[in-house]
Amino acid sequence: MFGYNWDRIDWERLQRLRSLFLDPSSIDGPYWRDDNDLLAYDLTFAARIGWKWDAVLLELKRREWQPPSTRIYDWGCGTGIATRRLLAAFPDHPWKSVTLWDHSPLATDFARKRIEETHPGIDCRIQPPERIDPDSIVLVSHALGEASEEDLRILWEQAVTARSVIVVEPGTYDSSRAVIVVRESLRKHFQVVAPCTHRNACGLLIEENVRHWCHHFGQPPGEVFMDGNWSRFARTLEIDLRSLPYSFIALDKRAPQERVDESRFLGRPRLYKGYCRILSCQSSGVHEYELQKRSDKNLWKTLKKDRHSGLFHWEMEGDRIVSGREIGA
Ligand SMILES: C[S@@+](CC[C@H](N)C(=O)[O-])C[C@H]1O[C@@H](n2cnc3c(N)ncnc32)[C@H](O)[C@@H]1O
Repeated sequence: MFGYNWDRIDWERLQRLRSLFLDPSSIDGPYWRDDNDLLAYDLTFAARIGWKWDAVLLELKRREWQPPSTRIYDWGCGTGIATRRLLAAFPDHPWKSVTLWDHSPLATDFARKRIEETHPGIDCRIQPPERIDPDSIVLVSHALGEASEEDLRILWEQAVTARSVIVVEPGTYDSSRAVIVVRESLRKHFQVVAPCTHRNACGLLIEENVRHWCHHFGQPPGEVFMDGNWSRFARTLEIDLRSLPYSFIALDKRAPQERVDESRFLGRPRLYKGYCRILSCQSSGVHEYELQKRSDKNLWKTLKKDRHSGLFHWEMEGDRIVSGREIGA
């Protein structure tokens, strides 16, 4: 079944899924109808989500994070892309088990088969969140917006015993705000690994920052832009392939390396003639800073190219950045 490819894709299935994802309030229970829905999703939407996970896991590696457990718990697993990207990012880690949960049995069954196909040595089971192994790494990917408050309450109540929690969501205003709610409710039980460089209350929660959201951009693999199937996907579903926004939070019971004076860049710079404005998060809060092009031409170029680690040390004069050093490039 996993020999599925673009020749067999049913575009109407993808359009139906896209409409549901654009309006999660229209979702009323499990929406996967059969394996063909899951196969079409896995080849397309899940691949894009996988690139976001790759960006998150790269950032975690830059921050010297290593999996603190050999057990994964993937909630709202869909086709299991979050687990598969984590397994792929740490291939030498002695992974022992993957536990999957989704309110669609079609999804859990699909994800289990998909993971067993590439990792036959890993014990793969299906269990609701009431039975999360206390020392697991809990993953949640693109599922917060679809779940009821009660389901999430049960999930987070159980997840406090985990070693680590990683949540990756679409990068919209609402999904970022939902991730912040998770951060704030779990931060008394965990240390904050990323994207934040501090463990204080989230700086976006103050009135002045109500219009902002915490999001970042991943990079699709270059070949996608030369692939006629992906262009058809982009055209048919009206998705801009160059833009891969996501929001995330990574929590861990272990204290991360101290990041005093480091700032995390949020979103993209707003470029004007000769200067730009940057939304920057650090222990003092989230602030909008100005950078004059002439102050630091290299930094300007880095930001314009939009390829950077997201972590910077700023030299400031008031609210102006006079120079910046990228950390962990
Ligand atoms: C957009 S899909 C994302 C799937 C996968 N995590 C990924 O990143 O590709 C959302 C998934 O969450 C599942 N889901 C939604 N509400 C749920 C709930 N209350 N309990 C368990 N799973 C849920 C859906 O069935 C679906 O598989």
